[in-house]
Amino acid sequence: MREDGYLTFALCKGRLASQTLELFERMGVACGEIKDKSTRKLIFEDKERKIRFFLAKGPDVPTYVEYGAADIGVTGRDTVLEENRNVYEVLDLGFGKCRMCVCGPKEAGQLLLHHERIRVATKYPNIARDYFQNKKHQSVDLIKLNGSVELGPLVELSDVIVDIVETGSTLRENGLEVLEEICPLSARMIVNRVSMQMEAERIRELVSLLRKLC
Ligand code: PRP
Repeated sequence: MREDGYLTFALCKGRLASQTLELFERMGVACGEIKDKSTRKLIFEDKERKIRFFLAKGPDVPTYVEYGAADIGVTGRDTVLEENRNVYEVLDLGFGKCRMCVCGPKEAGQLLLHHERIRVATKYPNIARDYFQNKKHQSVDLIKLNGSVELGPLVELSDVIVDIVETGSTLRENGLEVLEEICPLSARMIVNRVSMQMEAERIRELVSLLRKLC
């Protein structure tokens, strides 16, 4: 927290943003300005509540929080696990529910049974490495992609992918399926370690209010 008494929030852009802002509005935070798509402004303030917030790319949210540039962050559990930053995870916000899965064509299921060395394309190399090394004890070559990961097996870049599955429609439309589930995901609230101590009361109140709302 800054000397001006403001609590700063880093919120994840993209899929989770609208649900996060909806939650903030239900808390009584004025979000009108940040929802205006034509604005290029980056930081918004609710002067009455002494809350400042900004939207950032998901993987950057834990970075802002670890360094104390934001006291609190809201982002997906996928990002929290992948970035593995030194922050407190204080609340499961319950929305943005989906699953981290190993996916591929049906036949690739066989490759997961025999500890063969396989190629795995993913946006989440740390999650994928942890899963294959520590849970499955299977050697893999990880190929980092930045999006449209389902292309991996389709163009023979990889045998399987590790990716988020929400409705499953991207997989279905591309002839792929869930082969193994790694973990369930949803939006999480994370807190800077120093802010957690310095602003304990305010953060505790906020968490209990959010718990009632979500
Ligand atoms: C995510 C994810 C899958 C898709 C899953 O991609 O990587 O591709 O959503 O959703 P579904 O199960 O509802 O089809 P996103 O749309 O975020 O874009 P990206 O492919 O560029 O990462």
